[in-house]
Amino acid sequence: VHWSAEEKQLIAGVWGKVNVEECGAEALARLLIVYPWTQRFFAYFGNPSSPTAIIGNPKVRAHGKKVLTSFGEAVKNQATHAKLSELHCEKLHVDPENFRLLGDILIIVLAAHFGKEFTPACQATWQKLVGVVAHALAYKYH
Ligand code: HEM
Repeated sequence: VHWSAEEKQLIAGVWGKVNVEECGAEALARLLIVYPWTQRFFAYFGNPSSPTAIIGNPKVRAHGKKVLTSFGEAVKNQATHAKLSELHCEKLHVDPENFRLLGDILIIVLAAHFGKEFTPACQATWQKLVGVVAHALAYKYH
């Protein structure tokens, strides 16, 4: 995948200001609330009774941070995702469609956090990035 200097700038500019703990927790919580079937993969989080309970769940927060941290590693080094693809495919049996859903949710979280600063050009670049990550994670399914 080719990244222009402008795209690299748009990604680094946003990523440098992302609060990984906050945005990671929010993205995972939104995934679980907006697409409730994804809760099935996280049974060990306990019974998520309400959106408020999901957002406040420390396990959701911790895992969200872990996922977004790992996403950030992909920003720098895509090789890291071969192992993760194996984990999600062969061990966890996560349908790869969910990677795309999480990517779109992340875009929404970034838009909410950055407002006007998250310009259409910025969104276009991030959309490309989450697509690349989703593709890398789905690699083992092919
Ligand atoms: C675990 C990353 C998407 C379900 C993990 C781990 C990482 C990770 C780093 C921990 C691996 C370890 O402990 O060795 C990502 C990234 C994603 C993504 C970067 C997309 C950008 C998803 C989606 C789902 C999912 C969409 C399900 C809807 C899980 C589950 C675990 C896991 C169930 C195991 C949790 C546990 O038992 O601790 N993921 N993930 N992941 N992921 Fe993902």
